[in-house]
Amino acid sequence: MPNTVIIGAQWGDEGKGKIIDFLAKKSDAVVRFQGGSNAGHTVVVNNEKFIFHLIPSGILYPGKKCIIGNGVVVDPKVLVAEIKDLQSRGIDLNSLYVSNQAHVVMSYHKQIEEIEERQRGRRKIGTTKRGVGPAYTDKIARRGIRMGDLLDRDVLTEKLRMNLSFYRDFYRLDLSLEDLLEEYLDYGRKLKRYITDTSLLIHQLMRQRKSILFEGAQGTLLDVDYGTYPYVTSSNSSAGGVCVGAGIGPTQIDKVFGVAKAYTTRVGEGPFPTEIKGEVGEMLKERGKEYGSTTGRPRRCGWFDGVILRYAARVNGMDGLILTKLDVLDVLERIKICVAYKYKGRIIRNFPSELRILEECEPIYEEIKGWREDTSRITMPKKLPEQAQKYLRKIEEIGKVRICLLSIGPQRGDLLVLR
Ligand code: IMP
Repeated sequence: MPNTVIIGAQWGDEGKGKIIDFLAKKSDAVVRFQGGSNAGHTVVVNNEKFIFHLIPSGILYPGKKCIIGNGVVVDPKVLVAEIKDLQSRGIDLNSLYVSNQAHVVMSYHKQIEEIEERQRGRRKIGTTKRGVGPAYTDKIARRGIRMGDLLDRDVLTEKLRMNLSFYRDFYRLDLSLEDLLEEYLDYGRKLKRYITDTSLLIHQLMRQRKSILFEGAQGTLLDVDYGTYPYVTSSNSSAGGVCVGAGIGPTQIDKVFGVAKAYTTRVGEGPFPTEIKGEVGEMLKERGKEYGSTTGRPRRCGWFDGVILRYAARVNGMDGLILTKLDVLDVLERIKICVAYKYKGRIIRNFPSELRILEECEPIYEEIKGWREDTSRITMPKKLPEQAQKYLRKIEEIGKVRICLLSIGPQRGDLLVLR
């Protein structure tokens, strides 16, 4: 398989975990390049459920190299726990690698996040409270602690001293340098065997013509540049993030696929034009089991938004679309698809780059009759009900992107290859 990027085309939770799991089988290595333990990828294998926050879900295949790149912010406490849990379930961790340049999420980042969210009041982001935003802030402010620093007592002592003095002055946080030092050196000892220069490792794999899968977390509309800013995460979760987050050049990427749900969901605050408040929204939430895998929060649900898909196809340079959870729509009598927005009486076809405009956009829908058949047991694309095929064609037409893979259930095998 060529070097492939998988990216969320909506607000995250598109079902990327399962797709990565499917494609990992055909790849030699899986790389995460952004985000942190705010992500939660769920994979179900033989009715056993695995939820990954940091480790690439490719780890379920023995021998596949699983790489946490420099663009990820790593909470070592979470990573140590995740490793321990997987080991106790018989999963081999020998092919896990963590970038020495990845920044560390410290326990105080979570305290800072609480303070900042409180200060925002009505305009709070609704973060996952995993300390991700403050860790990226420290990175950009050039005071961050990196995974490699956990292996050196002197470097870590000096960096902690500088940070604690800053946080004391700025946030009135009184933190113990000694306690933090010992706690994080201990994580360093536990993770030492995994920590390495992952950009170099990826380069070497590419020279050996190995195929690499880049696993996006969150989604395009949570990207710090292209998302619904400020209601976004603090990293570049669109395809552009791969190069800086993994240490490769754009010419080394062969294919980019976006993953979208057959409807739309969002957790946290911020505008959501096609949100359904009422019975159908509740039905989607229950049938789709739309509860966050990191925080357990119920997800807001809505109709498929073609304006968002067109935007995601554009900013990610998508080669194809992977559509998930079609089966959730099986019971609906009528299904709506948003084809454009209306803003102050005008029709808008391109996703607005300004939040104040998006906040006032109303969706313009086209409606089709539901298929009202169980699609979850279908094994061949041509056996899909006619109305379901019509729905897929409509999505392709609006998004100007072809659907290549369709997911119709949570199990590994519940996938139809369309092209
Ligand atoms: P943060 O990434 O924890 O700072 O949260 C910022 C925004 O991104 C919030 O709206 C979160 O709900 C959302 N978010 C972060 N990670 C995910 C994810 O993996 N899936 C869906 N939403 C996410």
